[in-house]
Amino acid sequence: MNKKVYIETYGCQMNMSDTEIVSSLLIDNGFDIIDKAASADVILLNTCSVRDNAERKIFEKLTHLKQYKKKNSKLVVGILGCMAERLQDKLTNEHDIVNIAIGPDEYRKIPELIQNAFYGQKGIAVELGTIETYDDIIPLRTEGNCAWLSIMRGCNNFCSFCVVPATRGRERSRPMSSILKEVEQLQKDGFKEVTLLGQNVNSYRCPETKSRFPELLSNVAKTAPKIRFRFTSSHPKDISDRLIEVIAENPNVCNHIHLAMQSGSNRILKLMKRRYTFEHYLSRIEFIKKLIPDCSLTTDIIAGFPSETIEDHQDTLRAMETVEYDGAYMFKYSARENTTAYDMEDDVPDEEKTRRLNEIIDLQHKISRKLNKNEINRIHEVLVEGPSKKNKEEWFGRTDTNKVVVFPAPEGIKQGDKFKIKISRYTSATLFGEIVEE
Ligand code: SAM
Ligand code: SF4
Ligand code: F3S
Repeated sequence: MNKKVYIETYGCQMNMSDTEIVSSLLIDNGFDIIDKAASADVILLNTCSVRDNAERKIFEKLTHLKQYKKKNSKLVVGILGCMAERLQDKLTNEHDIVNIAIGPDEYRKIPELIQNAFYGQKGIAVELGTIETYDDIIPLRTEGNCAWLSIMRGCNNFCSFCVVPATRGRERSRPMSSILKEVEQLQKDGFKEVTLLGQNVNSYRCPETKSRFPELLSNVAKTAPKIRFRFTSSHPKDISDRLIEVIAENPNVCNHIHLAMQSGSNRILKLMKRRYTFEHYLSRIEFIKKLIPDCSLTTDIIAGFPSETIEDHQDTLRAMETVEYDGAYMFKYSARENTTAYDMEDDVPDEEKTRRLNEIIDLQHKISRKLNKNEINRIHEVLVEGPSKKNKEEWFGRTDTNKVVVFPAPEGIKQGDKFKIKISRYTSATLFGEIVEE
């Protein structure tokens, strides 16, 4: 009988996409993927190291998994992803429960390491490569009608706070030809939305044709006109006019751009090694708003970076008011080993970081509410994702601007349907409306 593998995924969309690649690899090697940990022969945690609390969650999970190991001493527990890369053999040496640790460029070794683990062998594989893109593996996609598609791996930017270049290695791109082939197949398979993934998609460079990201985006949009396309992330230092034009020109490229600002203070941006000023950032936002007036904008913000003063923090609040983001991911700075900021004194006390973060969150809620109020009476095409958790009679979906819309469900509704919905109510996080005929 095939051995059963349960995989739990943490962290960013890259990890979600990698779990699909790992699942596909395992199935090809005679394993079954299941969705319940209790009956698994193998439990894999695909982990994130971006902030300390992400890693703490995994250590808590490992403590929790001890009860499974008590019931089944042959259970194999594996750590995949960024934490495996960062902590390497510390995971297998210091945590009895961990049998294997495998970094993001070594997933092809998983079947072999699992087999060895069944015979009691601990295993680690954490070499970072410069060419691995898993280009030949068709990911096992189970998430409805929306697919992730990694177009590149790694990152060369070395922002001073960020552990990703250390955990995911150097940047490399997949050939455009293979991405287009996959997109064509996704359209044939009935997928309705595809998100192109990379840590900095602006650095995409086809290894065969040397094409850059705007050309790739334009080509995928034309190859699969029935699919709507998103991408993440763009780096503000090199998001080009051409990319913004491609979004404006192609109706099936979503009107949503995620552009991580991190801070509104030029002094902090310099220390973060982001390589742009707020003025440059704002010029990009202004160009986006000029070409695509309805484009929604989201960002990432870090509160309490080393040496951040109240004035720096106020620059961030002012920047948020100037740009008016539809949404934001907001974090307290977390010092990470193997980053250049780790050598700086983490001198903003935790309570002060929390206070600044709360101010940022409150302001963002205020701005989101204000922008969502403008949505009243607008009609959006909504791609249906599933039933609403709060009310069985209602379902939810997303606009092309990436806003969640909840609406009364007609009979026979299913995931992947599209409806025109007129917005009638809002909160800072959600829009509510009714289906309309146009
Ligand atoms: N490559 C993406 C970009 O530059 O837009 C970012 C990817 S990173 C995994 C996601 C976000 O996590 C970053 O934009 C940053 O705001 C946040 N982040 C990264 N390192 C952090 C740290 N040490 N402390 C707090 N937040 C951090
Ligand atoms: Fe991290 Fe900067 Fe690379 Fe984004 S661009 S993954 S923040 S180093
Ligand atoms: Fe993603 Fe976390 Fe790694 S954000 S790239 S899984 S450190």
